Amino acid sequence: MRLIKEISQMKTWSETSRKNGLRIGFVPTMGYFHEGHLSLMRRAKELADKVVVSIFVNPIQFGPQEDFRDYPRDLERDARLAEEIGVDVIFTPKAEEMYPEGFQTFVEVERLTKPLCGARRPGHFRGVTTVCLKLFNIVKPHFAVFGLKDYQQYLVVKRMVADLNLDLEIIGHPIVREKDGLAMSSRNVYLSPEERKSATCLYKALCLAQEKVKKGVRIVPTLKQELEQFIISHPYTEIDYVEFCHPETLDPVKEIAGPTLLALAVFVGKARLIDNTLIEP
Ligand code: PAJ
Repeated sequence: MRLIKEISQMKTWSETSRKNGLRIGFVPTMGYFHEGHLSLMRRAKELADKVVVSIFVNPIQFGPQEDFRDYPRDLERDARLAEEIGVDVIFTPKAEEMYPEGFQTFVEVERLTKPLCGARRPGHFRGVTTVCLKLFNIVKPHFAVFGLKDYQQYLVVKRMVADLNLDLEIIGHPIVREKDGLAMSSRNVYLSPEERKSATCLYKALCLAQEKVKKGVRIVPTLKQELEQFIISHPYTEIDYVEFCHPETLDPVKEIAGPTLLALAVFVGKARLIDNTLIEP
């Protein structure tokens, strides 16, 4: 496995691979790997001749009060795990090279970034789309794999790729969970043992909603109220949002009449956790 730090070297590697007719699969990450990241890499490995994984804690997608400085990092361990899977290249660019002095160009997807996390984290998705476009231009993949845990991010990146006629396919990969249902996240390391117990309430709330809908409850305000009460009955929790929306447009829905995305963001202690599920009545 190669570790590439410079943009020019990454470009050269990709250009050579493409000239040799190889299909490049790409998994962009911010590192501190868990089974969720690793399953995206395995998926990419199945579909590609060569797999590139980027590790870059992207400063421009964090708000001023967010956890950019504290975000967990462990390149040595990440490299070991990626190598075991058979990843071909780890690309870890420097922030100074990605955003040199004078940098001033950003990509913005308009409507899809307004609700859910977009409403709570101003500028977040603009940072995500900008870095993804830069990484796509550097790595030149034939496809990139994104986790559906960050469902809105997946939709937003897919939209950008379609709108800007980029030549790559975006593949969504199912959410990987701990045994007790908690969605894996690099941010789970922020949880104390007590908070970790409470954190299962996100997944339990998703299951509760599935059950209620199965039993015929279809009115969103009723469902929302029950879920919110359920979540806050767990210690250390504070709800950021509980939303039911259209799975493609993310427009809010008032009644479950067709496939509906239920998306949650909950603070457990200082960790902001997200999760989601598709509800099909
Ligand atoms: P990061 O949070 O490191 O996530 C990298 C990829 O792993 C994303 O596609 C995310 O959806 C996926 N992922 C995380 N946890 C997962 C889980 N439990 N199951 C399935 N997939 C999971 O998302 C980012 O980084 C950044 O915003 C990035 C796209 C790299 C841009 O900076």
